[in-house]
Amino acid sequence: MRSRRDVVLVTGATGRVGRLVVDELLRAGASVRALSRRPERAALPAGVEVVAGDLTDPASLAPAVEGAAAVFLVWTAPPATVPAVVARLAAQPRRVVYLSSPHQTPHPFFQQPNALRGLHAEIERRLAETGLPVAVLRPGMFASNALHWWAPQIRQGDVVRWPYGAVETAPIDERDIAAVAARVLLGDRHVHADLVLTGPESLSQAAQVRAIGEAIKRPLRFEEVSPGEFRRAAAATWPAGVVEMLLGAWRAALGHGAFLTSAVEEVVGEPATTFFRWAIDNAATFASSGIR
Ligand SMILES: NC(=O)c1ccc[n+]([C@@H]2O[C@H](COP(=O)([O-])OP(=O)(O)OC[C@H]3O[C@@H](n4cnc5c(N)ncnc54)[C@H](OP(=O)(O)O)[C@@H]3O)[C@@H](O)[C@H]2O)c1
Repeated sequence: MRSRRDVVLVTGATGRVGRLVVDELLRAGASVRALSRRPERAALPAGVEVVAGDLTDPASLAPAVEGAAAVFLVWTAPPATVPAVVARLAAQPRRVVYLSSPHQTPHPFFQQPNALRGLHAEIERRLAETGLPVAVLRPGMFASNALHWWAPQIRQGDVVRWPYGAVETAPIDERDIAAVAARVLLGDRHVHADLVLTGPESLSQAAQVRAIGEAIKRPLRFEEVSPGEFRRAAAATWPAGVVEMLLGAWRAALGHGAFLTSAVEEVVGEPATTFFRWAIDNAATFASSGIR
């Protein structure tokens, strides 16, 4: 076990997963340093040392990396600076927990062409070459994607128009990803772990919408639209590459149950959170105008 006073650097600390990793580390009594390009807007809890730095400018990371004993790495930047940033991390012995994806998992949902797969694989390869202790977390579909995808329609009415209602996924509550990350960052049991993290159940997209309806106490109807209709509707707001990536993954996954693992329970000691529980805990966000 690391000393609780060792500094843990959390990158992506203002994002969906990183913010929750910060919370988990604080609860565990760790000393937390958070990276943000704009510390003045980070809005992180008191007690967190927020340090400026940008993954696209490796030299800017020096103050954040200095003295950190462990790093939670989230990469949402372009790939160009991956080698230089990984070299910085390798400059002193520290462990890294990298937030990747299940791109190696032999399930059709994860095996479709996807621009991020190559980036995740490249970062993993570079990290492995450093010889540092590296753990890789591979969450499947985030539960909070439902907020980004469906909340705008749910705020307007009781119908969610979406393609591939029968496709099953196993949405994972980001709090579970964070709970796993904190244990791997602070403990000694999973230093070299490679963990595919999923929710506890395989649920069709239509069933997920119904679960949200139960959680917000308003019956919701899933209305199937064709991939072409979805493409046209999404064109104004979504990058075409993302739309095609999702359509390809859903098309390939049709007729297969979602890929499930028990990794969350094995690391955290409690079963992964159900989608219904996640929906209850996020019910207010489906009614309000802001998505955090
Ligand atoms: N969505 C899914 O279903 C899913 C599934 C599996 C894996 N993933 C992976 O999860 C990762 C995203 O995690 P997330 O959703 O928690 O991220 P997120 O909410 O998009 O937040 C990422 C954070 O990264 C920081 N950031 C962005 N560009 C940066 C830069 N150039 N330098 C330093 N920091 C930068 C931003 O903080 P500041 O603005 O404060 O700098 C931002 O808050 C991706 O790698 C994605 O592929 C997602």
